[in-house]
Amino acid sequence: MMKSLRDFQLEGKRVLVRCDFNVPLDEQGNIVDDFRIQESMQTIQYARERGAKVILLAHLGRPTTIFQIGETSNSKSQIPSRSQIQKEESLKPIAQRLQQLLNQKITFIEDPIGEKAEKQIEMMKPGDVVLLENIRFYKGEEENDPAFAKLLASLGEVYINEAFSVNHRAHASLVGIPKFLPSAAGLLLEKEVEALGKVVKDPTRPVVVIIGGTKIESKTHFLEEMCQLADEVLVGNPVFNEIQSKNLAPKGREKIVGPADGIPSQEQALDIGPETVKLYAAKIAKAKTVFWTGPLGKAEEEEYAKGSLAVAKAIIASGAFSVVGGGDLVGFLDTHGLRDKFSHVSTGGSAMLAFLSGEELPGLKALEI
Ligand code: 3PG
Repeated sequence: MMKSLRDFQLEGKRVLVRCDFNVPLDEQGNIVDDFRIQESMQTIQYARERGAKVILLAHLGRPTTIFQIGETSNSKSQIPSRSQIQKEESLKPIAQRLQQLLNQKITFIEDPIGEKAEKQIEMMKPGDVVLLENIRFYKGEEENDPAFAKLLASLGEVYINEAFSVNHRAHASLVGIPKFLPSAAGLLLEKEVEALGKVVKDPTRPVVVIIGGTKIESKTHFLEEMCQLADEVLVGNPVFNEIQSKNLAPKGREKIVGPADGIPSQEQALDIGPETVKLYAAKIAKAKTVFWTGPLGKAEEEEYAKGSLAVAKAIIASGAFSVVGGGDLVGFLDTHGLRDKFSHVSTGGSAMLAFLSGEELPGLKALEI
């Protein structure tokens, strides 16, 4: 069991909210897709409206410039100079987007550890929001250094985990801070756990799982688990080819349904063909629960988007409880104005697959009471 954000009295409290603002940026550093930011808004607004002083912490990418800190509990910040930080590693553009979405000033704290940050946080008033710079600039984050976690925890009085999509990482800002502060799940995290839980725990049958994307390599455990869970597992051409070429034979292999055709041809398919669309749509029509990850072709090109679009429409028409997830697929559905047509759209990639595979997510475990 986890506590909920709703269980806390937030008035006047410094509330540390761990979000996942790991969003795609273009070469100029502009946000390409702000879905994860949008999805975090409910918790930020909730806390603000209740008079909390909201301190947001998040990561972006996998920075190459990493600073030592946290080896001792009284370490001072060692972020040397902004010039060492790659533009695409900074959360600054996220602060600007948050400012637009919240329509209020967001203070961006470039150096989250040290006296300057402490002063900036001290000056906060109820309803204020600050964003700390990319937490992965610190070595102690990924190493889950307890001293670093303690330093972060000292910035707040309550900790909220709103970062479902990074809960498969045992990092300080996820598993370390809850050791020092009263902790709870944010509204998005609760929603993710509830919707994904509905797919894996006693789902309404038949359950159809659709796995697209270009590779199954990193998802073989997921495929095995889905062959156990689902009644049918529909896969795209690249995934099916890989299953065949590698002779993958998970328990429940007979539930895997491969495409009947492809565009331009099955061997070099960049999309599923019309026969496959018919076959898959018929199976989806009978489903009561559908989970889908990964487009079924090179769907970012209009020419090869038809299969994925037809599958999306079949799911919507089926009326099944439908969960979709994974950055590429969610981006595709958004481009075609279909994102809000599913029961749940997960912000997770690897974390979502791990959850559905029955793996224990360290971030969630750290919230257990
Ligand atoms: C994601 O984008 O899946 C999460 O933010 C986790 O990012 P990571 O794989 O760099 O830990």
